[in-house]
Parts: sequence; structure tokens; C-alpha cells
Amino acid sequence: MADFDTSVLDMARLPQHVAIIMDGNGRWAQRRSMSRVEGHKRGKDSVRAIVEATRKLGIPYLSLFAFSTENWQRPRREVNALMSLLRRYLRTEIERMMHNEVRVLAIGDVSKLPPSVRDELDSAIERTRDNQRLTVGLCVSYGGREDIVNAARALGAEVEAGRLRPQDIDEAAVSRSLGTASMPDPDLLIRTSGEMRISNFYLWQLAYTEIYVTDALWPDFREAQYVEALAHYQQRDRRFGRVAEEAPRSAAQ
Ligand code: IPE
Ligand code: IPE
Ligand code: MG
Repeated sequence: MADFDTSVLDMARLPQHVAIIMDGNGRWAQRRSMSRVEGHKRGKDSVRAIVEATRKLGIPYLSLFAFSTENWQRPRREVNALMSLLRRYLRTEIERMMHNEVRVLAIGDVSKLPPSVRDELDSAIERTRDNQRLTVGLCVSYGGREDIVNAARALGAEVEAGRLRPQDIDEAAVSRSLGTASMPDPDLLIRTSGEMRISNFYLWQLAYTEIYVTDALWPDFREAQYVEALAHYQQRDRRFGRVAEEAPRSAAQ
């Protein structure tokens, strides 16, 4: 059971997969005349809080956009700090993840990560592989376009090897060739810090995802803000291109 106020939520209608663009760490720090890295450190506390809250709510899938393919172009010092925070996060959280039955997946080009980070990530993935309460997809060195390019290459290789015919490439074939193959598409995308863009996050996967943007900066995004996002989601009318069912007219009308 959750130890925060969920009274506004219908627990039977929670999303199955929440994806989050964790943005605004730098601005959080700048507003306090701190270095951007301080903002990332505080952002790590939000990651812990939101992972735990997701597990307590019983939502089975969470995707966290932690580092994009474009983020490699940031100043070396900031990239190094982010990498070392990721390594420390994995090291300090692993026991809690085991206790909470959280499984970790890496989504993105992990071959670009420094070896020490990759080792920590590999060991977290390996140790948590049988945990079934919550799957957390950590998107690191992830780009939505790169994901689609890799899927196209993988399908092309299957065609070349004679295992797949081009006419058999369908939406399901593309989906299972993406980094998110083992997860359903997100029901809800949350972006913090007010930016109204996708920034090369899941491009294929967000086709019918409900989008919620909050002005809260990521280090300020905790349980209360999460519940607010979920409550907004529950007010949405998800039509998937169809029309809403009309209520049957009563004979008296
Ligand atoms: C999000 O915060 C973290 C990463 C992208 C790694 P930012 O670092 O983008 O913070 P802002 O957007 O500059 O405030
Ligand atoms: C998106 O945030 C990437 C992550 C949160 C990891 P950015 O801060 O990199 O995106 P832009 O530059 O505002 O589009
Ligand atoms: Mg940003």
C-alpha cells in the first residue's frame, strides 16, 4: 500500500506503463545559484522517490529518460558527473531494488557508456532479472530515431538471412525489434520543466500515449506531483482514433 495520499486516484484504472522525461535539473540548480551538477544530484532523489512510488501503486512498467544520444554533446565535466551519478545510483539502490522486487533494464546504446558504468549496469540487470513487481527501463544514451534505425537494421539482417520476408514486416515486427521489446507502449508520458517537446524520446512507442507536461522541475517532482499527473491521466478520454460509445437513448426521450 502507498504511504502517500492516493485518495484522488481510482486504483483500478492506473496506467500500466508510465514514461518520464526527467527534465529541469540544471534550471533547478541555476535558480539557487548552484552548479548544474547539484541539480542532477537532487534529481537522483526524485528518481528514488518515483521508482518507489510506482512500485507502491502497483504500476508494472516505468521508463526513465536519463540521458539522450544528444546529451553526449554537453560539456565533458557535466557528462562525467552524470555518468558517475548513474554508477552511484545503481550501486546504492541495488539492495533496495532487490527488496522491492524491481527489475532493471537498460534501453539505449550502452556500449557508449564508460566501462565502470557499464559494469554496474550489467550487474544490476543480471541481479534483478527475476524480479517481477516493477520493471524499470533506464533510457541511457537513448535516442528514438537511433532505436528505429537499429530496428530497421535488425529486420534487414533477418531478411538477408532468409528468415523473414519483407511483406511480413508489420507493426508487431518493428515493435519487437526496438529497445522496448519487452514492455507495452506507455499509457502516460510525463515531462517535467514545462517543455512541450519529445526531445527524441520514444518516437514509435508514444503513438497513442497521453502526454502530461508539468512546470515542476525534476528535483521538485515527488509523490504529490506524481499523483497529480496520474489523476489528470484518469480524466482523459482515450479514443485511439475511434468515436466515444454513445450512451443508449432511453425510450422516454
Ligand atoms: C535533465 O535536466 C537531465 C538530463 C537531460 C541529463 P537538464 O540537465 O536538461 O536540466 P535543464 O533542462 O537544463 O534545466
Ligand atoms: C531530454 O532533456 C533528455 C533527458 C531528460 C534525458 P534535454 O534537456 O536534453 O532536452 P532539450 O534539450 O530541452 O530538448
Ligand atoms: Mg533539459
